[in-house]
Amino acid sequence: MKVLVIGSGAREHAIARALHRSPSEVALYAYVQSHHPGIISLATAYQVGDMICVPDIVAAAMRWQVDLAIIGPEAPLAQGLADALWQAAIPVIGPTKTLARIETSKAFARGLLQKYAIPGAVRFQTFHDMRGVEEFLQDLGKEGFVIKADGLMGGKGVKVAGDHLHSFTEAWHYCQQLYDEGHAFIIEEKLIGQEFSLMGFCDGHTLTPMPVVQDHKRAFVDDRGPNTGGMGSYTDANHSLPFLTAHDVAQAQKINELTIAALQQECGEKYIGILYGSFIATRHGVAVIEFNARFGDPEALNVLSILETDFVVICAAMIEGNLAITPVEFSSLATVCKYVVPEGYPDNSVKNSVIDVAAVQDKSHLYLAAVSEVAGKIQALGSRAAAVVGIASTLVEAEVLAEEEVRRIKGQVFHRADIGTAALIQRRIAQIQNLRAGV
Ligand code: AMP
Ligand code: GLY
Repeated sequence: MKVLVIGSGAREHAIARALHRSPSEVALYAYVQSHHPGIISLATAYQVGDMICVPDIVAAAMRWQVDLAIIGPEAPLAQGLADALWQAAIPVIGPTKTLARIETSKAFARGLLQKYAIPGAVRFQTFHDMRGVEEFLQDLGKEGFVIKADGLMGGKGVKVAGDHLHSFTEAWHYCQQLYDEGHAFIIEEKLIGQEFSLMGFCDGHTLTPMPVVQDHKRAFVDDRGPNTGGMGSYTDANHSLPFLTAHDVAQAQKINELTIAALQQECGEKYIGILYGSFIATRHGVAVIEFNARFGDPEALNVLSILETDFVVICAAMIEGNLAITPVEFSSLATVCKYVVPEGYPDNSVKNSVIDVAAVQDKSHLYLAAVSEVAGKIQALGSRAAAVVGIASTLVEAEVLAEEEVRRIKGQVFHRADIGTAALIQRRIAQIQNLRAGV
């Protein structure tokens, strides 16, 4: 079976590894953005190109006569790559452009929840100009709003009152900036609680859940600093998180299922791919932060590292509509993922500095991200550079493994040492307990 993976981050490295581990005979083909040595070393053939250049990607897929394509990142989904591949009779894991609006337009996603009365909705308004901005900000209160650009911003278009915006004036200026840059934007109610992600495999009927993950969006220790693509993430051995109840997880799965049903009804198309629900457990229950139409990065690293079922079998079930009769198993192990990112990330990253991963002991859990191999050296291009995943029976042990390994990556990089630590998790549990107790 010839499988094409599109993308060259750590997520796609994890996807490529999951395919490579498969007992089915898989020949991997890769369409990558840079000379990613991890993915390229697993591939029968590869092509370096632009992720949004749909005709190039389709031409490569046809030349290689692949049987299946897996789209990693959101940018090609937004360009209609899935539509173009299906038209070329190539089955695809990844939704069509119309369905991918669940990620590519935050206004569409919020509107869908509202229209179909799906639980977990928040107060929001969409703006195409500055009319009504001031009134809605005042309405939500000085500490009570979040402003989001309505487009793909790599996790960096969101600013939160109290954290990034300290007055109505600053908020107004941010809206003005988005407007000047040509973005529509949404303003929504700010939620207080603990965030988590629940992803599912979807075949157009069934949505099979994966373990629940917590990502860390903020650049610096203690959740300070700008939002990033995600600095690291963890899963617990029971596939939930220490601060969630079984009811919270069930609620998130219900919201994902209702959203898929609403989305398919709204668009009149089947959703074949991954749905990623981003949630926040609040005092009043589970609410939706956003949806993504693909695996999360880093979340994919956590879950694919402990996937026991043959990933090729799951992909085939997604294409054939057989998920309902396909058991999907994950090991009962905890995982902690930590990224190294270039100094200055995300706003002023050092570019093209060399990183050295030779000292990492377990290379099978090292995932390379925005890097390129040049003359035998690994250059960090400016975005997240490499991640390690620690896997053990408890979170404490998994964190120690991940921290030891991440420190072995040398270069002009930094990481968040607090991700997955008992101290940080304890604080998260205490926050939820206080919220639920009304403190
Ligand atoms: P998004 O790109 O929508 O996932 O937002 C990026 C980050 O901004 C989230 O991971 C949250 O930390 C924060 N955020 C987004 N929406 C909200 C909200 N309504 N309330 C509180 N924080 C939010
Ligand atoms: N981890 C966040 C994302 O993949 O968008």
